[in-house]
Amino acid sequence: MEKIDLKDKYLKFFESKGHKIIPSAPIVPENDPTCLFNTAGMQPLVPYLKGEPHPEGKRLADVQKCFRTNDLDEVGDTTHHTFFEMLGNWSLGDYFKEEAIAWSFELLTKHLNIPVERLAVTVFKGNDLVPADTESAELWQKEGIKEERIAFLGEENNWWPNMEAPGPCGPDTEIFYWRSNEAVPEKFDPENENWVEIWNNVFMQYNHEPNGTFVPLKNKNVDTGLGVERVTAILEGYTDNYKSSVWQEVIRKIEEISGLPYNNEENARSMRIIADHMRAVVMISGDEAGIKPSNTDQGYILRRLIRRIIRYAKKLNIDINSTWEQELAEIIINKYSKYYSELEKNKTVILQVLQEEKIKFNRTLEKGLREFEKAISNLEGNEINKEIAFRLYDTYGFPIELTEELAKEKGLKVDIEGFKQKFAEHQEKSREGATQKFKGGLASTGEMETKYHTATHLLNAALKKVLGEHVHQKGSNITAERMRFDFSHNAKMTDEEKQKTEDLVNEYIKMAIPVEKTEMPKEEALKLGAEAMFINKYGDIVTVYKIGDVSIEVCGGPHVSNTSELGHFKIKKEEASSAGVRRIKAILE
Ligand code: ALA
Repeated sequence: MEKIDLKDKYLKFFESKGHKIIPSAPIVPENDPTCLFNTAGMQPLVPYLKGEPHPEGKRLADVQKCFRTNDLDEVGDTTHHTFFEMLGNWSLGDYFKEEAIAWSFELLTKHLNIPVERLAVTVFKGNDLVPADTESAELWQKEGIKEERIAFLGEENNWWPNMEAPGPCGPDTEIFYWRSNEAVPEKFDPENENWVEIWNNVFMQYNHEPNGTFVPLKNKNVDTGLGVERVTAILEGYTDNYKSSVWQEVIRKIEEISGLPYNNEENARSMRIIADHMRAVVMISGDEAGIKPSNTDQGYILRRLIRRIIRYAKKLNIDINSTWEQELAEIIINKYSKYYSELEKNKTVILQVLQEEKIKFNRTLEKGLREFEKAISNLEGNEINKEIAFRLYDTYGFPIELTEELAKEKGLKVDIEGFKQKFAEHQEKSREGATQKFKGGLASTGEMETKYHTATHLLNAALKKVLGEHVHQKGSNITAERMRFDFSHNAKMTDEEKQKTEDLVNEYIKMAIPVEKTEMPKEEALKLGAEAMFINKYGDIVTVYKIGDVSIEVCGGPHVSNTSELGHFKIKKEEASSAGVRRIKAILE
């Protein structure tokens, strides 16, 4: 089937409908330390969906760089990816159902040339609290979707994000495409797997109040999401995403480098993993967030991806010492620079990251694999013990997940808890002035980063005192050397305001206030007046950090246990970040 230029067509179409095309936000969320990567197009837009004015106006569209770690182990089949792109169009209190539905229909049938006979939709059927979305159903019918192609489903399918989350929410309407050579049935059966979902339109028309009621919003928003890889494959007629125009060039290159055909399931699995991970590595290391391979957070994911690529390249007998990884990365950089100009700009960095990490891992991979084989040939029982797992990690650079994966291939288990314990003991021993802590598995945060993390809470509180209650955190970025803190405020800070803020933070530090961590229901945290960005994204029970009477914030941590640990706080710079947002750079000395 013909190649579909989905991104261009989508963005041009929405531009013609008065939308500003905004660049993808960085792949690492700037305003949410609890989350490693952006996982959906709406994620960076949450503040605007909640009512803050967006500098580009009320109609926006973009293609957003997204990354999901939960699918990492699934990659290798025909449909899963780690990195993916999500197209979306948004109305921030501007157009609503009528336009959104008419435009979805127009784009699909007129520009992507999908026959209306192959389309079906679902709409919300209503419940005790909110009536059925008959309005959307009628609008679809007006466009030409027949009644029997409209299914009314419940909140588990047609409500976003879900009925429990507080804040803006609403019914959604999902669009389905008939992907089969069989005749299209007259009646739409959402259970029939030949009907595949291609696009979701969310109509945020309610606010879920703390008392449980759904009150109509003044500003009604539209939030839509369409996954580029999945929909391109569907529209081009492939059940294997990696055969679509999104991947063809990359897979062809891997075939060329390895001299092996994709048309063989074992090869195909390795090739898909290499293709997916290589693109993810380019996107993460080429992002403006400046992620480098490391043993913590995003850097650890990057390291895992590169090491996994190398292992699968070996399976395909690729000569690891050749420049294969550079060639592959360049193809991806060229293909995507048009949408993400930072890739071209950071090309040297990307290529260097790949090469250095490759060299580092390649030195020990063979030996590590031999060590693994030896260990399992002497194994009693079916579990790889913590000593072996730790030696593979420490001496041979095997991420624990790699050992797990190798074990799984042999039907074995790994003592993960034991490994973590050994890892922690080791960290303790080789402390060298830097405390490392476990956080969400293997990722850890260093002592300095932890201090800076607590300093952001104090700064946030001090700014509220000095500038006013309108100050809220808009983002933060922390390294072991410095902190960056973005906050809502309309004017440049005066020297006096800066001095006052700095003094206040230092006063909080001197007061030696204990930092208390508690878990509580989200509602309770909000009642206590806790600062919380992205409250909708947290689960029902949230972690709250309280610093005496100075600060209370919903936050994933980690933090120091007493403000006295921070040393001396110094503001180095105060500047504009974006419209209505200022940025402070500060250090702890
Ligand atoms: N936010 C909606 C989704 O991700 C569009 O499905």
